[in-house]
Amino acid sequence: MIVEHEEDIAGLKAIGRICAATLRTMMESVQPGMTTAELDEIGREVLDKAGANSAPVSLYKFPGVTCISVSPVIAHGIPGDRVLREGELINIDVSAEMDGYFGDTGASMVVAAQVPEYEKIIAAAKSALEKAVQAARAGQAINNIGKAVQGEAKRHGYGVIYDLTGHGIGRRLHEEPVQVFNYFKPRDRYILKEGLVLAIEPFLTTGKGRVVEEADGWSLRTTDRTIAAQFEHTVIVTNGEPIVLTI
Ligand code: CO
Ligand code: CO
Repeated sequence: MIVEHEEDIAGLKAIGRICAATLRTMMESVQPGMTTAELDEIGREVLDKAGANSAPVSLYKFPGVTCISVSPVIAHGIPGDRVLREGELINIDVSAEMDGYFGDTGASMVVAAQVPEYEKIIAAAKSALEKAVQAARAGQAINNIGKAVQGEAKRHGYGVIYDLTGHGIGRRLHEEPVQVFNYFKPRDRYILKEGLVLAIEPFLTTGKGRVVEEADGWSLRTTDRTIAAQFEHTVIVTNGEPIVLTI
């Protein structure tokens, strides 16, 4: 959506903060021995208390309130009986709606341990998100975002996941522009407008950058079973510094 009124900004900020608080609470609650369903339940409580609705549930009848993906699953992982073990690389993604506005945020982390191989790609993915957000400026082409992601990935020795993209967001979870690519597409010259709301979500990987759906019909894992890390923010494009909503 293109933000037009102050109330749009207020509504987007409200749901953005709720998504961020849900993600943070879940990340702080991660412990070895707990199931991903138990972790999802913690997210459900935060959303319920805030009066927000899980987008995956209301829009897609997803069998979980949030997406919890355990490597090599990198997105759309279904919360369930899977027990988290120390040293595993996981991703939590929270998207929700309140008062007709949507927010979307995500992060990767390691379960209760320091694993240098994972910490390194997590730091690079976080940095790629920062660079990508800075590239989202009114008057600039959308492909600058992918260029920023890919450049930062390469600088750290990683590739990107080609099959997963960011997206327009606001009044719906996914809206125009439908795809914000995580790599440079020369012909993708859609010009960003002031007030445009985007979910930017770089996925970095050590592998070839392709994903496949698992037999459960949701979970997306890397085809080569390599690791990936993702961070996501919902932002409003302006003529200057973008407004990050999911903080
Ligand atoms: Co997301
Ligand atoms: Co998203």
